[in-house]
Amino acid sequence: MKIIGTGSALPEKVVTNEMLAGFLDTSDSWITSRTGIHTRHLLSTETLSELAITAAQSAIESSGLQPEEIDYLICSNVANSYVSPSMGSILLAPLGLCCPCFDLNGACAGLIYSLDIADAFIKTGKAKKILIVAAEEPSRFCNWHERETSVLFGDGASALVVTEGEGFKNFRLTGDTHTDVLYYKRSLEVTPYDRVEEKTMPLVMNGREVFKLAVRACIKDVDIILEKNGLTGEDIDLYLLHQANLRIIDSIREHLGQPKEKFPTNLQKYGNTSSASIGILIDELSRAGELKDGATLLLSAFGGGFVTGATILKWSTINYPEKKEE
Ligand code: UT7
Repeated sequence: MKIIGTGSALPEKVVTNEMLAGFLDTSDSWITSRTGIHTRHLLSTETLSELAITAAQSAIESSGLQPEEIDYLICSNVANSYVSPSMGSILLAPLGLCCPCFDLNGACAGLIYSLDIADAFIKTGKAKKILIVAAEEPSRFCNWHERETSVLFGDGASALVVTEGEGFKNFRLTGDTHTDVLYYKRSLEVTPYDRVEEKTMPLVMNGREVFKLAVRACIKDVDIILEKNGLTGEDIDLYLLHQANLRIIDSIREHLGQPKEKFPTNLQKYGNTSSASIGILIDELSRAGELKDGATLLLSAFGGGFVTGATILKWSTINYPEKKEE
């Protein structure tokens, strides 16, 4: 499998750390020193599906395919305003797609989980041209009176078109039950048989525990996937890691003993956009010409569950259409 198209979209509203310090007991210095985040883009006038459509349209356009040629849509999404229908179903008609679709909740590792499934579909011949959309609105899970979680996240969408080719080598996915460290519960209707009323509970996170789990698990994933491919840290041109916290990325980089330039980041601008984060990074770097043809990339992400995913691929240049003047 290889990537032949990329796209991303962010909400217009940019929120700085200073703006958050205006209504939360926090500061720019705390947020930047503990996370690396300076700003995040938050949904205000747009909807998540509008962002997802924009990201998907530019991915399809850059792939050179017509929407009718896409034969599967996989949508990575933790939650949106609908529990049903799926986000994938919502996107089909506006994108001009006529294919099966489903949503996958792999938390922040959802893009890598989606890529792994797409790879299996392509290998078995179940589908040939797959659109993967990762669209997330974590800002809508947070309690905005609590400084512990709300300062960390941003909203966004990314999309990749994949097809047969010599790009991806292999995947390593893991899962483990740690539901207590990171969760978001929705309200449940009372029934004649179960009268316990469940109210929506905004995101609860034990940041320190998630930090430790993330560093430990990602280091293990990276070591194992490098070994599986007979590679060392030196052989990787760029590490595209889940954009959650600069200190987590630095811990992985220090373990590998690799230079900072190999670890591009954009969390400073966007915060943690959950499963959209690696796709946004790929799209930005690719469009800026910073992903060289034949470059070896390592992707690694972790997320609530606790789940992780990692993969290695050889990059093939994508020729983006010229931007039309407005
Ligand atoms: O995609 C998965 C999503 N989650 C993550 O990636 C989170 C992983 N964890 C982290 O990134 C870090 O643990 C945090 C950034 C969440 C927190 O950093 P930390 O260095 O682990 O800080 P801490 O939780 O140990 O808190 C240190 C202090 C506490 O005060 P006391 O107890 O020392 O008085 C917190 O109450 O910082 C306080 N604090 C804040 N202060 C100002 C917590 N949040 C804030 C805040 N502003 N926003």
